[in-house]
Amino acid sequence: MTTELQPELQTAVEQRRNFAIISHPDAGKTTLTEKLLLYGGAIHEAGAVKARRAQRKATSDWMEMEQQRGISITSTVLQFAYHGCQINLLDTPGHQDFSEDTYRTLAAADNAVMLIDAAKGLEPQTRKLFEVCRMRSLPIFTFVNKLDRPGREPLELLDEIEKELGLQTYAVNWPIGMGDRFKGVFDRQKQQIHLFERTAHGSREAKDTIVDLGDPRIEDLLEKDLYYQLKEDIEVLQELGLDLDLEAVHAGQMTPIFFGSAMTNFGVELFLNNFLHYALKPGSRNSSNGEIPPTYPEFSGFVFKLQANMDPKHRDRVAFVRVCTGKFEKDMVVNHARSGKTVRLSRPQKLFAQDRESIEEAYPGDVIGLNNPGVFAIGDTIYTGQKLEYEGIPCFSPELFAYLRNPNPSKFKQFRKGVSELREEGAVQIMYSVDEAKRDPILAAVGQLQLEVVQFRLLNEYGVETTLDYLPYSLARWVAGGWEALEKVGRLFNTITVKDSWGRPVLLFKNEWNLQQVLGDHPSLKLNNTAPVV
Ligand code: G4P
Repeated sequence: MTTELQPELQTAVEQRRNFAIISHPDAGKTTLTEKLLLYGGAIHEAGAVKARRAQRKATSDWMEMEQQRGISITSTVLQFAYHGCQINLLDTPGHQDFSEDTYRTLAAADNAVMLIDAAKGLEPQTRKLFEVCRMRSLPIFTFVNKLDRPGREPLELLDEIEKELGLQTYAVNWPIGMGDRFKGVFDRQKQQIHLFERTAHGSREAKDTIVDLGDPRIEDLLEKDLYYQLKEDIEVLQELGLDLDLEAVHAGQMTPIFFGSAMTNFGVELFLNNFLHYALKPGSRNSSNGEIPPTYPEFSGFVFKLQANMDPKHRDRVAFVRVCTGKFEKDMVVNHARSGKTVRLSRPQKLFAQDRESIEEAYPGDVIGLNNPGVFAIGDTIYTGQKLEYEGIPCFSPELFAYLRNPNPSKFKQFRKGVSELREEGAVQIMYSVDEAKRDPILAAVGQLQLEVVQFRLLNEYGVETTLDYLPYSLARWVAGGWEALEKVGRLFNTITVKDSWGRPVLLFKNEWNLQQVLGDHPSLKLNNTAPVV
């Protein structure tokens, strides 16, 4: 490929915005996603995403388990056009399907939208996901949701974000009233008030009346106390004195904050417009050849997620690839960095919710689904031209641990093969006891579902029925400096040592308290909550 491609790539990158939503269950991720699609014109009436989910449940679920539990296991990518931009929303599995994939998806995202319930503030899953965003210095845009219900004071929420996450905040808009009296938002940049009208469950776009702050009509449009409250709030915000510092936003140090209600559509459009304006476009990525800009004319990308058997009729596997540079074209032949082999990418898929649609081309910031006949693993780089490899996706700290037992010795071979393949695929982490007598693998997962998926797949794909013996631990930390460093600190209490698939020492703790205790007792001990895949 030549540099003739450059203008085309430049335009594609300018147009692309890619993000993932980080939130705790019930904060309104599905609702907000649906409203973004509504404003993006990808759906015409809200309710479609939920309906689609229900429809899927009835038809083509790739696992009975998914049906039984009524949840969606697969992480999907939604692409839609809005105001001349191509937006890629990477869906992060949440709820009970919270897993290592949720973290890995953030490796493919350029921006994160942190969705918070105004009544609850920061919640555990949001905090965990935030930590991964921080590791990658992702820009974070905060949407405080459910202002149509009684919630906490907006200033208190800003304070919580600053203190707990160490992020500077800048409120881009400000709520007018709350609960039943939530009337709209004040756009601080344009100094305009947006007053909304409610529609039934927000199935259509919300109509808003826009008035300048100095407009005399405001006093009639807003009840007196709300008007005075707003004026007071504006003064307080001004006294805080902070400006929106885009550099700090892009470095993940300041978060622009938006208030609204996804259900009634209040503030959603304003959020989307500002987000498009401020979000990072696909940028350069670190590789074995240094920083590679997205407009580099050769194609490259990396695998951030593998999905097995999404379609029970085909029993196939799909590798999700984030395109980093160049242009992807159907049927192109690429190099697979890890194996040194060449692969023809013949059945690429674009992903809109669960539907698979074949694609002809894709650009930096896009995600494509490739049929994966066992070639790809998490973190693999594919490329054309000069060899390059992107930094791998690390292992994230698991929170659930269980011995996996195979009660049937005649199935030993299948058991071993299944465990090894599922580990390579990244379905679960495998650890081992340091006690040679205990040879059963320990499954280590971020979410319960990962364990169930492993058992289900061992049975269905390898014919092995297994049982789990849970271990009473909830935190894992890799020892920096390996066994040597561990030996130096001597005997440790309130923790056990296991080894990961690469033989590295990992300490398991029952709780955060025990972890802090060990760290307090041994200041020289350095522990990491992620570890590279080698
Ligand atoms: P999630 O994907 O983050 O888990 O959240 P989801 O969108 O499913 O929303 C969780 C619940 O919160 C839903 O109520 C949803 O309607 C409600 N919700 C979302 N955004 C808002 C908002 O801006 N204001 C208010 N008041 N509620 C909101 P549900 O009763 O569980 O479901 P449903 O009856 O609406 O289907």
